[in-house]
Parts: sequence; structure tokens; C-alpha cells
Amino acid sequence: MEINNIFSVKNKIAVVTGGSRGIGEMITAGFLANGAKVYITARKAPALIEKAKELSELYGGECVAIPCDLSTLEGIESFTQQIEEKEEGIDYLINNAGAAWGEPFESFSESGWDKVMDLNVKSIFFLTQKMKHLLTKRATLEDPSRVVNIGSIDGLNVPAFPTFSYSSSKAAVHHLTRHLAAQLVSENITVNAIAPGPYPSAMLGSAVNSDYSEIEKRNPRKRTGSPEDIAGLTIFLCSRAGAYVVGETIASDGGIVKTAGHNLG
Ligand SMILES: NC(=O)c1ccc[n+]([C@@H]2O[C@H](COP(=O)([O-])OP(=O)(O)OC[C@H]3O[C@@H](n4cnc5c(N)ncnc54)[C@H](OP(=O)(O)O)[C@@H]3O)[C@@H](O)[C@H]2O)c1
Repeated sequence: MEINNIFSVKNKIAVVTGGSRGIGEMITAGFLANGAKVYITARKAPALIEKAKELSELYGGECVAIPCDLSTLEGIESFTQQIEEKEEGIDYLINNAGAAWGEPFESFSESGWDKVMDLNVKSIFFLTQKMKHLLTKRATLEDPSRVVNIGSIDGLNVPAFPTFSYSSSKAAVHHLTRHLAAQLVSENITVNAIAPGPYPSAMLGSAVNSDYSEIEKRNPRKRTGSPEDIAGLTIFLCSRAGAYVVGETIASDGGIVKTAGHNLG
């Protein structure tokens, strides 16, 4: 019952997609700081390799960079193969890599639709499918392997920006989470999602010119999310403490979804 036991991720092996920056980096840092080995992937090899080196040095753990484009089946298969060459099994798959796209309704492009759907939805399904045998290897009734999908509050609420494919893709992530949970629960793999609210990152920063002051003012908790917020929730889901949670989508948003409308009368 001690915290060191029930929240431990020590000696576990995690794969974090999109681990080179933003939310993926925050989750990777949390795992490394607590004794897990982490494989990270992203497209831009130099930034990814540099980040793996930086995080390994900072936390004294082992962070391994494997550059890959997960938006195609070819990229997903190549990534899986490279993990297979290094590990017999993995404990956690964190499907975090994602892209956003905004364009007015009238001119919204097919490429802006496909780019987002391919990475945000298709890659989660196929990466989980291809890595299932790796997840099954170390999974037990007592200690299931975990898949955590990163959705968004934009898949729960209707966003203010014209990000039609993004909001739809994130709603799909939340439902895919339930469907995959139903498929995999009998094989000792739990699947859950986190729906982040605003977290400082390249993705959110580009939408607000890296000025988060308005977002902070409007947030019920009066701030953006921090590495501790997202890493802590992910660690909860992956540790003994989260082993009985199945198919859930948990918002980490300072209260936006659950308190929206409270002051509107
Ligand atoms: N930040 C927020 O406020 C917020 C809110 C709600 C949900 N989210 C979700 O959280 C996740 C992370 O977002 P973020 O804000 O941290 O974004 P970010 O800073 O843009 O990071 C995205 C990560 O994904 C990688 N990536 C992008 N395309 C890829 C591809 N085709 N194949 C492999 N890796 C790819 C990026 O590296 P490369 O560019 O080198 O590939 C990067 O490491 C996303 O799913 C996002 O939708 C974020």
C-alpha cells in the first residue's frame, strides 16, 4: 500500500510516440525520473536524438531515440520492427504523437483532413495492433500492460478554432480507446485515454503566438498544465494504482470540460 509500490513504474519499458517535445517529452521525463526505460519516436531525427541524450543525462535513465514517421503503415511497421530488435516485450505504449490543422470551413482542405486523421487516429489503431504481441509478453492478470492514448478536450467540447479534422479525430481517439479496451482487456492489456486541456507546447504555442496569458486567465485553475500534471496522471494509469481502470477518458484540463457553463447563468 505504500506510494513507492502502488505508483511505481521502476524497471518498466515504455514507448512514447512524439516524445521529442511537448506533452510526449513531459511524459517521458516522468517515466525516466522514476526508473523506467523509454523509447521515443518522432520524424525529425536530430531533435529526437538530442532530446533522448538530454533526458537520459538529466534523469540518469535510459532514453532511446528511434526516428520514424508514424502517419504511414510503413513507418509504423518499421518502428515496431526496430523495437522488436531491442526488446522481447514492452509494458507501456503511450500513443501521444498528434497533429493539428486549422482552416476556415469554406476552404478546409482534403490534405488538412487526411494529415490529421492519419496521424491522430489511424496510427494509434495500427501501432497498437502491431505492438500487441510486445505488450502481451509481459502482461499478467495482476499487472496488465497499458496503452494510454492522448486525446484532447477538443474531442469532448466544441473548440473555438476551425479545427474540424482535429476535433473529430480526438473524439475518434476517445471512442477507439473504449473499443480497443474491450478488445484487449481479456489479454491483460488495459487501454485508457487522457484528454489534455491547454499545455504549453509547439502545437498550442503556434495557435496563440506562445502567449499563454489569455488561456491562463480563462482557465478555471488559472494556469496551463505542467509536466507534473500530465506525467503524474500517466504514471497513475500505468502503475499498480491504475490497473483496474479500463476504457476511460480522463480530462486533465484545469476544469474546462466539467465546469464550462457554470458562470453563464
Ligand atoms: N498541447 C496541448 O495543449 C494539447 C491539448 C490537447 C491535446 N494535445 C495532444 O497531445 C499530443 C502532443 O501534443 P503537443 O502539444 O505536445 O504537440 P507538439 O509539441 O507538436 O509535439 C508533437 C510530437 O509528435 C511528433 N510527431 C508529429 N508528427 C509525427 C509523425 N508523423 N510521426 C511521428 N511523430 C510525429 C513531433 O515530432 P516531429 O515533428 O519531429 O515528428 C513531436 O514530438 C497530441 O496528440 C495533441 O493532439 C495537446
